[in-house]
Amino acid sequence: MSFSFVELFYLVATALFVFSLHWMNDPKTARRGVIAAAVAMLLGIVATWAQPFVVNHGWMLLAVAAGVLIGWPLSRVSLTAAPQRTALSHAFGGLAAGLVGTAKYYLWLSEGPEELTTFRMIAIIAEVILGFLTFTGSLFAAGKLQELSWVPQRPVTYPGQNVFNIGFLLVAIGIGAWLVIAPADPLAPTVLFPAMIGIALVFGILLIIPIGGADMPTVIAILNSYAGLAAVAMGYVLENKLLITAGALDGTSGLILSIIMCKAMNRSYMNVLFGAFGSVQPKAPEDAEQGVYKGDTPESAAQIMDQADSVVIIPGYGMAVAQAQHKVRELYDQLKKRNITVKFAIHPVAGRMPGHMNVLLAEADVPYSDLIEMEEINGELGQTDVALVVGANDVVNPAAATDESSPIYGMPIIEAEKARTIFAIKRSRNPGFAGIDNGLYFNDKTWMLFGDAKVVIGDLVKELSGESGIH
Ligand code: TAP
Repeated sequence: MSFSFVELFYLVATALFVFSLHWMNDPKTARRGVIAAAVAMLLGIVATWAQPFVVNHGWMLLAVAAGVLIGWPLSRVSLTAAPQRTALSHAFGGLAAGLVGTAKYYLWLSEGPEELTTFRMIAIIAEVILGFLTFTGSLFAAGKLQELSWVPQRPVTYPGQNVFNIGFLLVAIGIGAWLVIAPADPLAPTVLFPAMIGIALVFGILLIIPIGGADMPTVIAILNSYAGLAAVAMGYVLENKLLITAGALDGTSGLILSIIMCKAMNRSYMNVLFGAFGSVQPKAPEDAEQGVYKGDTPESAAQIMDQADSVVIIPGYGMAVAQAQHKVRELYDQLKKRNITVKFAIHPVAGRMPGHMNVLLAEADVPYSDLIEMEEINGELGQTDVALVVGANDVVNPAAATDESSPIYGMPIIEAEKARTIFAIKRSRNPGFAGIDNGLYFNDKTWMLFGDAKVVIGDLVKELSGESGIH
């Protein structure tokens, strides 16, 4: 393929990456965005492969086969595991950058030290440090999110941790700086370069261990940003423009996403970066100071909904766990049949990833116009007959607004307590993600429907569909 064709392919791929990000802003066009990104990636691979410097096609085929073998099962994981799946992708991106940088250093060193120009060395050092720390940091983050038994779930902290961590990183940067000045130092290939890689690998883990579970998804977005920056550096090393632009898009979108998530959870960005702020110790249910729960049955809940003029459904992580979105859609249809106004209240961090509820409800074909953002629905909840909380907890916890000592204090919430009657579906008295009690469940107007969300909603649908005599 001629040079100008390669440039054209790269340009089209870059444009598709930009459009892809734009389309992913909206659930209606998100699928198109994913396809555009996949096509862009394919164009990038084809254009690179077709260049004359690629001589060993066997290695290329092997790399493609390895990618497919790993990528295919990764594409099948459930939506609730998306954060850790994403972390694994970043780990692979970081590893690729680190390995390419290392290979290029030793290759150029063998060709003669004059090949290791200052510019190339700066790019290599940035690529290797960022790449390897992203690799171990992302692997560790994925293990934490997957709750692997050998990965500590709670934040591990000790005095002077941040000073130690930053000092440790500075050692790697110091070695890197020396390598830029003296790339062919006799100790460089055997001691200094490997030591820098080792420090970056250990630093990736040190970066993640002080971070609490509640902040992990945000940290995944930050690691996304590091992986993007590593790709930019790799683009400079390989003199590949597509890697530079795609890496820059990846890096900035990860950064913007992490800032949005911090805002939605009212966390300071620095707190998330430097850890130990998701360190909420969940109270054991038996120790917790709990109010009095009032249980109810699907039968009487259905009767009250049958009489309502307006119902707001508030989905949360439990709906995702139960995969109850299709049953929720059936309930929506039953209520709509009765000319009841039904809306969904969407909290920006309900579930475990941005847009989690939108994706699930879109999968069940709930009309997008009935998904209402938090600020808007909060203005309507005071005039709502029934708020139905489906496996949501922290995002409806009034302590976020009233209890200054609460770890979620300041996080904007969906004000379910304003509705005339509240039904809340969950399986037990256990707390939500932040590990704290929820006063909403003890509210005089709240009735608990204990059970798996899919089963309970299924029972409500049965009651409303007339099988149990309600018309
Ligand atoms: P959570 O606070 O995690 O509460 C989910 C509730 O669902 C739990 O109380 C659980 O109670 C219930 N549940 C679980 N499985 C269920 C099932 N099969 N059937 C019925 N109920 C079930 O969820 P939320 O209100 O959506 O809040 C999200 C939390 O995640 C927030 O703290 C947020 O800050 C955090 N977070 C979110 C994100 C993003 S981007 N979404 C990122 C980082 C952190 P039982 O165990 O009793 O059933």
